[in-house]
Amino acid sequence: MQLEDIKTIGIIGAGTMGQGIAQVCAQAGYKTMVFDVEAQALEKARQRILQNLDKGMERGKLTNADKEAALKNLTYTGDMLQLRCDVVIEAVVERLEVKQSIFQELANINTPATILASNTSSIPITQIAAAVPNPERVVGMHFFNPAHIMKLVEVISGAATSPEVAHIIKELAGKLGKTAVMTKDSPGFIVNRVARPYYTEALKLLEEGVADVETIDKLMQASGFRMGPFELMDLIGVDTNYSVTTSMFEAFQYEARFRPSHIQQQLVNAGHCGRKSGQGFYTYAN
Ligand code: NAI
Repeated sequence: MQLEDIKTIGIIGAGTMGQGIAQVCAQAGYKTMVFDVEAQALEKARQRILQNLDKGMERGKLTNADKEAALKNLTYTGDMLQLRCDVVIEAVVERLEVKQSIFQELANINTPATILASNTSSIPITQIAAAVPNPERVVGMHFFNPAHIMKLVEVISGAATSPEVAHIIKELAGKLGKTAVMTKDSPGFIVNRVARPYYTEALKLLEEGVADVETIDKLMQASGFRMGPFELMDLIGVDTNYSVTTSMFEAFQYEARFRPSHIQQQLVNAGHCGRKSGQGFYTYAN
């Protein structure tokens, strides 16, 4: 397959990341089909993409024709069987067994030529690919949040990923207006591995009563970080951030430095997942 052969892209999961990834694919001219098991998630994604495109117009970055063209490229479905595409990008919850079962189903629906990409933050691509026939077409395509704004994409090759597939995904990222960096397969890849202590140490400070959420966030911002660790966890999704830490803790043989925080676990149990749920470390008017 060549980059020019890619005409249709499927997005699995219409949450925080799926929304933004779908938007950039549609804006780049690809017929983009978004699938989610929750009808409400699909509706939220439709509204969020519309809001983002309107904002782009207000800022003079898009014309009305650009907006209409992007909207025309988007379809939403609750039926996974419709996802017969050239490339599928999976962005569902950070759980290996969920991702593996989706990839198996995708492999049944599509021909072996379809590239199956995962937006996973931390799960080794080799593990996801192990569940799929033709694992050479499974690759990591890790966008950053918010996906319609952040330029970086990590392209991750698993043990079986073919160099051609990784190369096409790198080219595709470029076509989406992103800068792709090729990385090897390792839990958390590069960015999430380096960034992990930003969250885990902040949570330890909170647990030890050294400082409160607001103080830690203000200090880290004042020291040059764009966002403090707690507002960033709320943006990412407290549940997603917790799952990423948990998955890395397991993958690194329970090394103490990756131990997930009880405070974070409690927020997740309470459904306080950050901005997307209206409540996390802070409260939001959604
Ligand atoms: P999210 O919780 O906001 O959205 C997940 C979506 O997947 C939900 O709409 C849910 O209904 C849907 N879903 C769950 N099971 C499904 C299934 N079997 N079939 C179809 N849809 C299903 O999660 P978020 O934050 O968008 O994360 C998705 C993936 O992207 C995860 O692997 C995460 O690690 C990764 N990621 C997240 C980032 C972030 O900042 N939130 C940044 C980069 C990657």
